[in-house]
Amino acid sequence: MRIGVLTAGGDCPGLNAVIRSVVHRAIDNYGDEVIGFEDGYSGLLDGRYRTLDLDAVSGILARGGTILGSARLERDRLREACANASDMIRDFGIDALIPIGGEGTLTAAHMLSEAGLPVVGVPKTIDNDISSTDRTFGFDTAVGVATEAMDRLKTTAESHQRVMVVEVMGRHAGWIALESGMAAGAHGICLPERPFDPDQLVKMVEERFARGKKFAVICVAEGAHPSGGTMDYGKGAIDKFGHERFQGIGTALAYELERRLGKEAKPVILGHVQRGGVPTAYDRVLATRFGWHAVEAAHQGEFGRMTSLRGTDIVMVPLAEAVTELKTVPKDRMDEAESVF
Ligand code: F6P
Repeated sequence: MRIGVLTAGGDCPGLNAVIRSVVHRAIDNYGDEVIGFEDGYSGLLDGRYRTLDLDAVSGILARGGTILGSARLERDRLREACANASDMIRDFGIDALIPIGGEGTLTAAHMLSEAGLPVVGVPKTIDNDISSTDRTFGFDTAVGVATEAMDRLKTTAESHQRVMVVEVMGRHAGWIALESGMAAGAHGICLPERPFDPDQLVKMVEERFARGKKFAVICVAEGAHPSGGTMDYGKGAIDKFGHERFQGIGTALAYELERRLGKEAKPVILGHVQRGGVPTAYDRVLATRFGWHAVEAAHQGEFGRMTSLRGTDIVMVPLAEAVTELKTVPKDRMDEAESVF
């Protein structure tokens, strides 16, 4: 079998672990040939690829980023790919394509599968917002980075009697904010799923200081919004990939709190630090298992599906099911988090 693999969308710790696992399982067990397309679907469209043998993936298990490069795909180019799907199979002689990516990449994978490409998807994203899988690799690493940052910020915040507003990634799903906020013991957590009221945050900080506490940490997802009319904050425009451009809720909220409280409030935007660096052991293991099962699925002819974690098992689920809706934080998880800060 000739297997093509690519990584698309925003990168994520653990991508290299999947690539390595695919190559090992395919070559060691089946004697397959594996090629890697460069820079996501662009490499597939432009015919930029290289052979991935065992040497090519040696030493990459713990490396962040992706050795293949990644890119987002504009919608026009995706339509072009779908229209040329059968030519691409013939040109590259591939029997299976394994795209590793998040919601956008898997939607594209689903479209390519419908257009006739033999596709097996592998979900990735630090945001953990893909339906049909309990977890995506990269999430554990991002939560660890954000948690450590807040642990560190607490000590300096206390020294200077400050409020720290820590903005983490998560456009529409607040999983990173929820779990890192809980793990770090943040005093406020703001998620995209539930508009927040700045008055309540002001009250919370004032009560803390009245009890003799000297600082507060508020963890806010980049996609969080204040409830209507409570604070000046607008919606951003949509970029060429269909994503909303955010206007910096962490900074806006810190300024708002400083103004209302009369205390220093500092914004800390963690940004891409959450996506860089070495994956945790958990993410390496999940990524390796996904790679292994993707190759098995290709050999079983289970196309149009993706690997998924259900409990402790890896199962194959239809791509169509995985891309129907984002997995957002449910109410009971938000209620649990609220009860501890
Ligand atoms: O999709 C994952 C994600 O990490 C989002 O949480 C974030 O908004 C986005 O990627 C940023 O991606 P980039 O700056 O690479 O376009």
